[in-house]
Amino acid sequence: MYIKSIKLQNFRNYASCDVNLYPHLNVFVGSNAQGKTNFLESIYLSSIGKSPKTNREKDLIKWGESHSNIKVTVKKEFFEEEIEIFLRNDNKKAVKINSIAIKKIGDLIGEMPVVYFAPDEIGLIKDGPSYRRRFMDIDISQLNKTYFYLLCKYEKLLNERNKLLKQTKSFDVLQQTIDLWDTQLCDTASKIILFRLNFIEKIKIPAKETHFRITNQKEELNISYQGINNFSLNEIKLKLQKMYKEKLKSDFDLGFTSVGPHRDDIEIKINNIDIRNFGSQGQQRLATLSLKIAELNLFEAELKEKPILLLDDVLSELDQTRCKNFLNEIKNYQTILTTTKFNKKLDSESAIFNVKNAVITLHKDFREQN
Ligand SMILES: Nc1ncnc2c1ncn2[C@@H]1O[C@H](COP(=O)(O)OP(=O)(O)OP(=O)(O)O)[C@@H](O)[C@H]1O
Ligand SMILES: [Mg+2]
Repeated sequence: MYIKSIKLQNFRNYASCDVNLYPHLNVFVGSNAQGKTNFLESIYLSSIGKSPKTNREKDLIKWGESHSNIKVTVKKEFFEEEIEIFLRNDNKKAVKINSIAIKKIGDLIGEMPVVYFAPDEIGLIKDGPSYRRRFMDIDISQLNKTYFYLLCKYEKLLNERNKLLKQTKSFDVLQQTIDLWDTQLCDTASKIILFRLNFIEKIKIPAKETHFRITNQKEELNISYQGINNFSLNEIKLKLQKMYKEKLKSDFDLGFTSVGPHRDDIEIKINNIDIRNFGSQGQQRLATLSLKIAELNLFEAELKEKPILLLDDVLSELDQTRCKNFLNEIKNYQTILTTTKFNKKLDSESAIFNVKNAVITLHKDFREQN
């Protein structure tokens, strides 16, 4: 799968923009504050239904304007698809796929899977568990919509349970009423955990192998799910029920639910050292890249379509050899890469675009367009 064209109207600093992309590496070069990240953001938004940077969708509309439109044409193996996003000042968003309005954002997710990598994605390794849960949640949702709906359901049930924990005055009363919630909560939570366990199981070997290659066999990367580790749905459910029960008194005192998939994590080790806490900046960065490449491979295997890779200003942080190795790993995917300067020696076949004050022009076209 690849993006054939993108049209923007009043999106961030773009008044209007119409760009045809190439199926392989597309490099967007420009000075700071010209619109490179904004361009990638429009693609991410068309894929996931929200911005990687903000929840305030009003901010995405060009200042002084009342609405913004994005139109992305995607070439899939057997057909073409058009995704349109309409943003309005009153925060109402509409999405159309092939001119038909969709009712839920879940219907968009998975239509055009992307793997996104910006410098602060290193948070995936060095920051709190919520970054790693977000990584799993976005990825698995793109692979399977059922997961996305399970997450929405879990969040709703969890909010209700937390409300009950806060509002119920006596612990005895709580004990009598909570069971009804916990049966539903455990049912949803156990399915979420099983999805995550399977996801980690599928990416751990590709991530390890990629990392081994890029580090010239120096580093062994191992990831595992930190939570209940059991592949039987029933066993997970029983363990969860026990956990929720055991923690009920302290949850009642705290006023929120302290166990469950919303508290789980991914353990990430290099040569047996936990790099979430003890990894060097370089190790953390490279491990993130290895995970992203494992993501790409998994998406391709499961969806039978190649996902699109969005790379925001990541090359500047890699030395020449690692840069080349990395570009070599991703050469079969459509990649949209932004940078302030690009050394053509790194990939002589890339299409290069200039970005200047929200105007994108094709600088050098090395490929025949399909
Ligand atoms: N809603 C908006 N309307 C108009 N301009 C905006 C809006 N939101 C952000 N901008 C402006 O868009 C400009 C370009 O931002 P962008 O993040 O795309 O730059 P960039 O080319 O990625 O730069 P850098 O190399 O520094 O990362 C910024 O100067 C920002 O102030
Ligand atoms: Mg930028």
